[in-house]
Amino acid sequence: MRIVIDPAFKVGEVDDRLFGSFVEHMGRAVYGGIYEPTHPSATADGFRGDVLALVREMGVSLVRYPGGNFVSAYDWEDGVGPERPTRLDLAWHSIEPNTFGTDEFLRWAAVAGIEPLLAVNLGTRGIDAARALLEYVNAPRGTKWADMRPRDEPYGVKLWCLGNEMDGPWQVGQKTAVEYGRLAAETGKAMKWVDPSIELCVVGSSNSSMPTFGSWEDTVLDLTWEIADHISLHTYYDPAKFEDVDAYLRCSQDLDRMIDTVVATADAVAGRKRSRKRIGISVDEWNVWHQTANPHHVGHDGPFKHAPALAEDEHTVADALVVGCLLITLLRHADRVRIGCLAQLVNVIPPIRTSNGGPAWRQTTFHPFAHAARFGHGTVLRVELAGDEVEATAVRDGDGVTVFAVNRSAGTTPLDLVVRDLDLTVTEHLVLDGELGASNTAEHPDRVTPRRVAGAELPPRSWNVLRLT
Ligand code: AHR
Repeated sequence: MRIVIDPAFKVGEVDDRLFGSFVEHMGRAVYGGIYEPTHPSATADGFRGDVLALVREMGVSLVRYPGGNFVSAYDWEDGVGPERPTRLDLAWHSIEPNTFGTDEFLRWAAVAGIEPLLAVNLGTRGIDAARALLEYVNAPRGTKWADMRPRDEPYGVKLWCLGNEMDGPWQVGQKTAVEYGRLAAETGKAMKWVDPSIELCVVGSSNSSMPTFGSWEDTVLDLTWEIADHISLHTYYDPAKFEDVDAYLRCSQDLDRMIDTVVATADAVAGRKRSRKRIGISVDEWNVWHQTANPHHVGHDGPFKHAPALAEDEHTVADALVVGCLLITLLRHADRVRIGCLAQLVNVIPPIRTSNGGPAWRQTTFHPFAHAARFGHGTVLRVELAGDEVEATAVRDGDGVTVFAVNRSAGTTPLDLVVRDLDLTVTEHLVLDGELGASNTAEHPDRVTPRRVAGAELPPRSWNVLRLT
């Protein structure tokens, strides 16, 4: 396969916020995931040190919090201050002790060196709760909510999501596009009056199969045009929903079409409004998800439990290849996709898994993410591909170029890399491959791990990072 790279064919600059992730109050993402005060590696704040080390190694730049479906019935005041009431969480049929809340998360993010992205509840609440939370987090001392903050300095959180998946019947407080758009517009207006420096993400469709996909974005952007900076896009791929592994490995084509559709819709709204504004795409939930094989719901009729094991999928080599294709797709749209959140970070649909009191380990999907977060900075260059057996993109950083490629085919594919105007050769080639069903476990945490190879041949069914210097 021939790939021609020309430094003049620029797609766009990679926004570092593309390499984000997501921590929701769901299952063992928080309790037993990032936070476990009794764990041998716990910091004085109760954060798991082993998880912090893996999060840093993974190169996560941003984390969205606290949900997800959880946020749509969340009273943020329960999670701050000395009184922490225990509540029923309807999203995940769980018991929420509120031991971990906004301040704990923002402290964790600072220790991890990660930019926080906070979501506000537009399911059961609205303008007042959102502006109070923003005042608590970002306003200088001297007013009611800012004075309740445990530290003098404002946190200065820049990015905020106005609700979550409000088109979904599974959401507490589901809304029509008009209901949501009006509430988001007024909430966003008040929030920007509290702090004009923030950026706001309005809610897009929950996935491309939603009956309102496209029209939802059109209506919501029409109503929120003045305050929206980004629109969210969510997508998960369940291997059991594809007829075979080849179809599963091509699922990133759905994400590609989704991004094109949302960009076209946003630009059509801009055209109607005679506006030059260009809305960013915030892919703030994306991943593989074994929903069929590993049902995540505990049901809405059994007993409520604290931190039940939900969506603790064991990721395979096939999943890692899909995650690689999805990362390449995000990079190929670097001109419009500014934010990305691999959903989620720990234990829930996880690149990192833990056992309570025990070890933490990297899943197969950890590796392509870590490679992209490490080497995927700079300018994305256009790569034209013949056929769909190989998915690839190229990123130029300084004098070097990194090519990320997934070989979907069952055969070895020699790569003929032609780089115009730059004197570059392949100096490093990292590969992740193996038996498609292989995975890492607590007992075998490094069964699937990247290896270095010589040359530019793409092994069968493999994730590849080629560094040209
Ligand atoms: O990430 C798990 C869930 O998936 C989130 O809570 C929700 O937004 C989505 O449906």
